[in-house]
Amino acid sequence: MTTRPRKPAPGTPAPGKLALPELAEMKRRGDRIVMITAYDAPSGRIADDAGVDVILVGDSAAMVVLGHDSTVPATMDELIILTRAVNRGARRPLVVADMPFGSFQVSNEQALENAIRFVKEAGADAVKLEGAGPMLPRVRALTGAGVPVMGHIGLTPQTATMLGGFKAQGRTAAKAVRLYEDALTLQEAGCFAIVLEAVPTPVAEAITRALEIPTIGIGAGAGCDGQVLVWHDLLGLYEGHAPRFVKQYAELAPLMQQAVSEYAGEVRDGSFPAAQHTYSIPEEELALFEEALGEVRAG
Ligand code: KIV
Repeated sequence: MTTRPRKPAPGTPAPGKLALPELAEMKRRGDRIVMITAYDAPSGRIADDAGVDVILVGDSAAMVVLGHDSTVPATMDELIILTRAVNRGARRPLVVADMPFGSFQVSNEQALENAIRFVKEAGADAVKLEGAGPMLPRVRALTGAGVPVMGHIGLTPQTATMLGGFKAQGRTAAKAVRLYEDALTLQEAGCFAIVLEAVPTPVAEAITRALEIPTIGIGAGAGCDGQVLVWHDLLGLYEGHAPRFVKQYAELAPLMQQAVSEYAGEVRDGSFPAAQHTYSIPEEELALFEEALGEVRAG
């Protein structure tokens, strides 16, 4: 195992860390931004080694890691632990912590307190929050206090019930215009990037063209400045329903199941552990041990 240099204190960019303004530069250059979710240190390291630009510690953790049916139950404390873990594994990628439902809706003060927790306690580089309109004052409060904010519009899973379920958004002219305007106001409020989820391709393209900040698409077509996928979806680790925008690049669940079954079989038939997995004791120490045991048993 290689050792890596310690990270500097939260709020201080680590050496080699992608600078936040570089994302807008990438948009200007036409270089696509690669974002993925991750929830632990090994995944953070793998994403970093694979050249990912941004890691989102998504509230999707509630579903893919913690086994809930929706993202709503995710808590600050859970996401802080996961963000801290990702941060221990990742060096170059920007680490964005997702503000869970109920952690920012109440007031600007609440949003700021929780965003600051992500920065100070978990070493997050930025936070993401869902929504526009009534959430614009939150974005202003956070960016005004120096916490970079990624927006998220279109299908916003925390408020899916209000949106009529998990379905594509902006599919009428009026709703598409609303999304377009939301994107512009989020940029104006200070967001450094915006996730567009489940938005028709031409609508996402129009929004992407209109913005100076990058758009990161998930189910929003190839015209966005970057793309994001959920770790477990991409790797075939999530057994639940996969939306049509998911592309599975590997099917790891059966491989993992096979490995664990093999382990269980070898434990049961006694072939694991073998000699190479065990520790020895010098002959003379073993003799002394047996002698001592004899005395212990004799009382
Ligand atoms: O929580 C999450 O994983 C997300 C992405 C789907 C953008 O918000």
